[in-house]
Amino acid sequence: MSGAQKAGKRPDAPVALVTGASGGLGQALAVELDALGCRVAVHYRSSADQARAVSEKLTNDSVVVGADVGSWEETQRLCQEVERTLGPIDVVVNNGAVRKDALMAMQSPEDWHEVIRTNLLGSFHTSRAALPYMLRQRWGRIVNVVSPSGFIATAGQTAYSASKAGVMGMTRALAAECGRRGVTVNALSPGFMITGMTDQLPESIVSDMARKAPVPRFVTVEEVARSVSLFLDQDCMTGQVISIDSGVSIM
Ligand SMILES: NC(=O)c1ccc[n+]([C@@H]2O[C@H](COP(=O)([O-])OP(=O)(O)OC[C@H]3O[C@@H](n4cnc5c(N)ncnc54)[C@H](OP(=O)(O)O)[C@@H]3O)[C@@H](O)[C@H]2O)c1
Repeated sequence: MSGAQKAGKRPDAPVALVTGASGGLGQALAVELDALGCRVAVHYRSSADQARAVSEKLTNDSVVVGADVGSWEETQRLCQEVERTLGPIDVVVNNGAVRKDALMAMQSPEDWHEVIRTNLLGSFHTSRAALPYMLRQRWGRIVNVVSPSGFIATAGQTAYSASKAGVMGMTRALAAECGRRGVTVNALSPGFMITGMTDQLPESIVSDMARKAPVPRFVTVEEVARSVSLFLDQDCMTGQVISIDSGVSIM
């Protein structure tokens, strides 16, 4: 049939790269992907010990790899290391990110640049490095972790919001490029979770946020990570943003 999807077969034990697997959500994603039968590349930037501790919890083969995903050279080295140890990458979860909040009038250009470089360029770099193999084998999964901040206005988050909105745009455009080759590209948008990214926020702000959400509590990293099976299983879900956010994105 002309123009039909030419999907390949899902590998028996897919190799899944989880960036920022040393962090709160990344750890839970690595554990969940391992439980789903993946061989996980546990990535970190600076927290090598945490990444090793995550790897020790996994039951399938895994590897611990460090890199700054904001650097194309480091990302290429990272992907080569994963390929050498586990095999070519079948699944990329772009989870690693930074948040440097400040009102724009007072924010340093360096901080703004660092957020865009890590969150947006980083997601491009890993996807760019892994895509050629996925397209050749006609099966692949890219899951980009975004945030309600990508579509909800929050003062002090211009850099973070721009980075996550950029990743959502990239998700849709890349999904349009890859669908015929069996590669799906989706975004996962968690609500507020208590992790290293949020544990410094004042208690008053945090409890106020939880109270105002339609489901008036925070989502846990394990609850968000459980959704990853959906991305793995569904061949016809692509270009979507799936929100597991206690309903904050509908407020
Ligand atoms: N926490 C929330 O409420 C919330 C809400 C919505 C969306 N999210 C999103 O969820 C994802 C996970 O965040 P989290 O809450 O788990 O935060 P986290 O605990 O701070 O983890 C962030 C991870 O990103 C890694 N990272 C930072 N800079 C990097 C770089 N240049 N290159 C590669 N990796 C880098 C960190 O690695 P090292 O520690 O090894 O340096 C760490 O593993 C992020 O995409 C975040 O935007 C979080």
